[in-house]
Amino acid sequence: MHSRLRAALLAPLLLAWAASADLDVYVDGALASGWENWSWGTTINFAATDLYSGLSSLSATSDAWSALSIKLEGLFNTYAGFSFDFAGDPSAVQGTTDNAQSAYIPLTAFTGLSTTKLTTVVIDFSALAPTGTPLGSGAWDRLNFQALANGAVSITVTPLFLSAEPIGNDLIAITTQGNVDLSTVKVKLNNASVTISNTTTYSPVDAPAKTITYFTLAKSFTSGSLVITAGTNTTFTYSLPAVRYGTINVPNVKAINPYIYGVNWPTSASYIQHLGVTMSRWGGNAVTAYNPSGDFTNAGADWYFENRVSDAGKADDWLGWVSAAGSKTVLTVPALDWVSKDSTSYSFPKTVYPNQAAFDPYKPDAGNGLLPNGSYVTPPTDPKLSYTPWNTTLAKKWLTGLVNKPDIVNIDNEIEIASSTHYDMHPNPISFDEELSRVITFATAAKEALPNVKVAAPSTCSWWFYWTSAVGLTDNAAHYNMDFLPWFLQQMKAKETAIGKRLLDYLDIHYYFQPDTSANDAAAKALRLRMTQSLWNTSYVDESWIATSNYNSQPNNKAVWLIPRMQQLINQYYPGTKLSIGEWASTADGDITGGLVTADALGIFGRYGVDSATYWATPDEKGPIGLAYWLYRGRVHVIFGLPLHTYGTYFGANSVQVNMAENIEGIFGFYAGVESGKVSLVWINKNTVPMAFYISNIPTGKYFMRHFGGASGNAKWQTTSVLKDNTYTVIPAYTALFMKQV
Ligand SMILES: *[C@@H]1O[C@H](CO)[C@@H](O)[C@H](O)[C@H]1NC(C)=O
Ligand SMILES: *[C@@H]1O[C@H](CO)[C@@H](O)[C@H](O)[C@H]1NC(C)=O
Ligand SMILES: *[C@@H]1O[C@H](CO)[C@@H](O)[C@H](O)[C@H]1NC(C)=O
Ligand SMILES: *[C@@H]1O[C@H](CO)[C@@H](O)[C@H](O)[C@H]1NC(C)=O
Ligand SMILES: *[C@@H]1O[C@H](CO)[C@@H](O)[C@H](O)[C@H]1NC(C)=O
Ligand SMILES: *[C@@H]1O[C@H](CO)[C@@H](O)[C@H](O)[C@H]1NC(C)=O
Ligand SMILES: *[C@@H]1O[C@H](CO)[C@@H](O)[C@H](O)[C@H]1NC(C)=O
Repeated sequence: MHSRLRAALLAPLLLAWAASADLDVYVDGALASGWENWSWGTTINFAATDLYSGLSSLSATSDAWSALSIKLEGLFNTYAGFSFDFAGDPSAVQGTTDNAQSAYIPLTAFTGLSTTKLTTVVIDFSALAPTGTPLGSGAWDRLNFQALANGAVSITVTPLFLSAEPIGNDLIAITTQGNVDLSTVKVKLNNASVTISNTTTYSPVDAPAKTITYFTLAKSFTSGSLVITAGTNTTFTYSLPAVRYGTINVPNVKAINPYIYGVNWPTSASYIQHLGVTMSRWGGNAVTAYNPSGDFTNAGADWYFENRVSDAGKADDWLGWVSAAGSKTVLTVPALDWVSKDSTSYSFPKTVYPNQAAFDPYKPDAGNGLLPNGSYVTPPTDPKLSYTPWNTTLAKKWLTGLVNKPDIVNIDNEIEIASSTHYDMHPNPISFDEELSRVITFATAAKEALPNVKVAAPSTCSWWFYWTSAVGLTDNAAHYNMDFLPWFLQQMKAKETAIGKRLLDYLDIHYYFQPDTSANDAAAKALRLRMTQSLWNTSYVDESWIATSNYNSQPNNKAVWLIPRMQQLINQYYPGTKLSIGEWASTADGDITGGLVTADALGIFGRYGVDSATYWATPDEKGPIGLAYWLYRGRVHVIFGLPLHTYGTYFGANSVQVNMAENIEGIFGFYAGVESGKVSLVWINKNTVPMAFYISNIPTGKYFMRHFGGASGNAKWQTTSVLKDNTYTVIPAYTALFMKQV
């Protein structure tokens, strides 16, 4: 009555994607430090060599219901998943992640497992196979591989054809779950059956319970009707449109600055590597009060002016692991007069100001500093309640002592609005003169402490404050009627002339799209997708308050045309300064249209010559924004040194000129790059129906392809395919497709 489970598990077993580094479970013949053997009824060889040369696999033979069970001396709640390689009879094994006990995970939920070869399995804690339920909260500390009775299979996944859609010149992408019969799939183009010449199946690492199969048709797509039938009664129907024309001009190139693919606050080294993040910023409102002596910050107006321990720990350590992971770094240097004195104080105690509009529900004595009518409490609070003094001497001492040097420093963050975000330490509005003086003194200190560092400032929050200060328009009037940023550039140039040394390397601005897309209905999504034109189109009147505002004296100021406008100001007032966008966002991190906006913006940053850009903030690695980074930059998906995917590549280092026959940037983004003679393309269909293109000069031949969106949704889909013909390329609805010649 003994069912025997014989499994070989390849090292490294590991828990991946944590807040910091991956955690080993088993390496080289032994459990990693901190793990205990709690197995029962099981013969284990921790140094098995059956299927994997060397010491790095273990074998386990269990009696019925017995288990290979490993327990962490601690909890693994902060980890996002568990990865291992498995060979054995999957129908005899189930996994659980045990303490309060998770749902059983039948290994049959993973495709491709066999008794003769090792296959990688990734257990995603946010969606346990096969049901997709999250691991949930609990004190998670144990991983069990449990044998079933007599090899009985406890669960089967209902086989389903989830979607089938045309992509590229001749591919049908079919997503499925469970053991579907792919031989039932039939394709008809304009009523004629089309032969399927090749099928390639792929299961993405982050969504192992779903599979995509690419059918290569014997014939390229043409306009007309496409009908795909699958199984007994599933049909997917498309109307393939007429082509739209364009061309790429491969010899006409301009270098793309690699530092445009950045984020604020990446979560881990593997996050940086999976998404190919090139620039990482330590920034935001809280770090204005960062005290390196104790690593305290203050949330300011974002959360009841409360001190706390820095979310990312010590800046020096952060700089160390971020650069070790392969990203350049931006560090914010506080430039007001105070930093947090501890991890617990707050600025507006109820005991001092009983009449406030709101108090922290978790800390009822901490108020938001506002009276019930919305005005700030008076008199202003004593900064010493939460803060300790800060100045350039302390900043210099800190920067000089850093073990890990930043590549760029920001001179503080959005201090033009400190009189609201940091009302507790700087209640008076910051004027043109004060902001300039703070940038100059702290940039001087930073460059004395770190001779190779680049300075990026003034990190202005928004369109309104690009042109004026919190003092108001009288401040412009007092400065030759100049708007703020042009005046600031002019003054920084004058300073260079005076001291013989450049203090400002990057003009740094923050950019948040102003149109209101919060309804997130069809109209709001279409607006979101076309508003990326505000980054470059001089004729695109902003679909926001900007179109009716008249306070600044900038030319053509109903349109934003952000990048060329800023480059023009730089050329006029301080040539040689680079342009950085230290914060920007798509307006919808969880929506596929936010992912498409991000893919579009990354293409625009490259084409129009932005020098550095960092998304605010920490896009979910597996959500739409993370997928846009992966689209351009995702390389080999590495888990603890083992490449899970052998293919992958970056968008070309040089932007190729693109010309479309019609102006359709509102519904279609198209970017071409080239590097070492290989062309790369990103196509973004912002429409809710498929679009088709004839782009001349696209070379035929073999391409690596990645995509997200459309009917196949949020996942890292990829394949290789031969482009037979460039006269009809289909991009599915709401889809971003990356192609690169191999
Ligand atoms: C692990 O536990 C199992 C079951 O108690 C036992 O048979 C085995 O010898 C243990 N292995 C090691 C290396 O401690
Ligand atoms: C396809 O078949 C349908 C129904 O039989 C017919 O109405 C349609 O005209 C045909 N289309 C073509 C392109 O032949
Ligand atoms: C046919 O489709 C219906 C509705 O989608 C579904 O409930 C049924 O199970 C399907 N039948 C078969 C045999 O697949
Ligand atoms: C709110 O109340 C305070 C105190 O009474 C007053 O000084 C202030 O002007 C009021 N603000 C507004 C916006 O009415
Ligand atoms: C900064 O503060 C320290 C401590 O009070 C003081 O010794 C130092 O002179 C100050 N530096 C400047 C530039 O004011
Ligand atoms: C720029 O925006 C204007 C106004 O919406 C539009 O008419 C024009 O086609 C756009 N230009 C391009 C190149 O898309
Ligand atoms: C099918 O396509 C894959 C991916 O391009 C390729 O590796 C494989 O050789 C192709 N198979 C056939 C039979 O053409």
